[in-house]
Amino acid sequence: MDTALPVVRSVADLRARVAAWRGEGLRVALVPTMGALHDGHLALVRRAAELADRVVASVFVNPAQFAPHEDFDRYPRDEAGDAAKLASAGCHLLYAPPVREMYPEGAATTIAVAGPAEGLCGAVRPHFFGGVALVVTKLFLQALPDVAVFGEKDYQQLQVIRRFTRDLDIPVRVEGLATVREADGLALSSRNAYLTADERARAPELHRALAEAASALAGGGEGGAVLEGVRQRLAAAGFGTVDYVELRDADTLAPVARAERPARLLAAAWLGKARLIDNVPVPPA
Ligand code: PAF
Repeated sequence: MDTALPVVRSVADLRARVAAWRGEGLRVALVPTMGALHDGHLALVRRAAELADRVVASVFVNPAQFAPHEDFDRYPRDEAGDAAKLASAGCHLLYAPPVREMYPEGAATTIAVAGPAEGLCGAVRPHFFGGVALVVTKLFLQALPDVAVFGEKDYQQLQVIRRFTRDLDIPVRVEGLATVREADGLALSSRNAYLTADERARAPELHRALAEAASALAGGGEGGAVLEGVRQRLAAAGFGTVDYVELRDADTLAPVARAERPARLLAAAWLGKARLIDNVPVPPA
């Protein structure tokens, strides 16, 4: 196993590597991450390697998408471990810029996204999608990849990225990949590390409740009652605050009462110190 993954830390070095590949006629894929990599991230890298000749993964814990009271400082960081995992998954280059490279002194530009960024995580974390849009736009313009791969686990984030990439005419194809789950259904997430053993045993109830609710909705079940059923199941399983359980249009993320077109059932709920998010597709009833 080759663990000597090349690392670049500046925009100039990243661009030089990508330009050299382009000179050889190679296609380039980007997998943006915040590190603390798990098998879900590595699945993105493997998909990227199917779509392009060279894969760049970025590891950057983006301060712009955390509010002051959130977990920026304690977000797990392990660059050496991440580099070894990326190399084993077929990544060719790690881009790990320091904060000052991404946001130089005096940086004063923000990006505001409406549409799919409204409600859901956008309501509970008002700073979040602006911060994601800013860093992903910068990563796209820094690396200029042909394609970038993101997980459907962060479904609202994926739709927001698709929206601003179209709106800003950024010539990058945005590819979504199905959520990677543990055997018991829990979606892989770097924040699962915050769960105690007892909470970890309860956590799969989020996916079970969503999957059963999606079947009920696809079978014509009444939206309000089905969503309330999910909330009750989460409470019974020991979850704390439920930030949302909502049915949305799968493409625009507009709220819908029933799945007349492909829809998405999305939820976010707290279990101890971990805020878990998950979502499942709901086919038209
Ligand atoms: O999903 C993530 O890990 C982050 O939000 C992203 C897309 C890398 C932007 O910082």
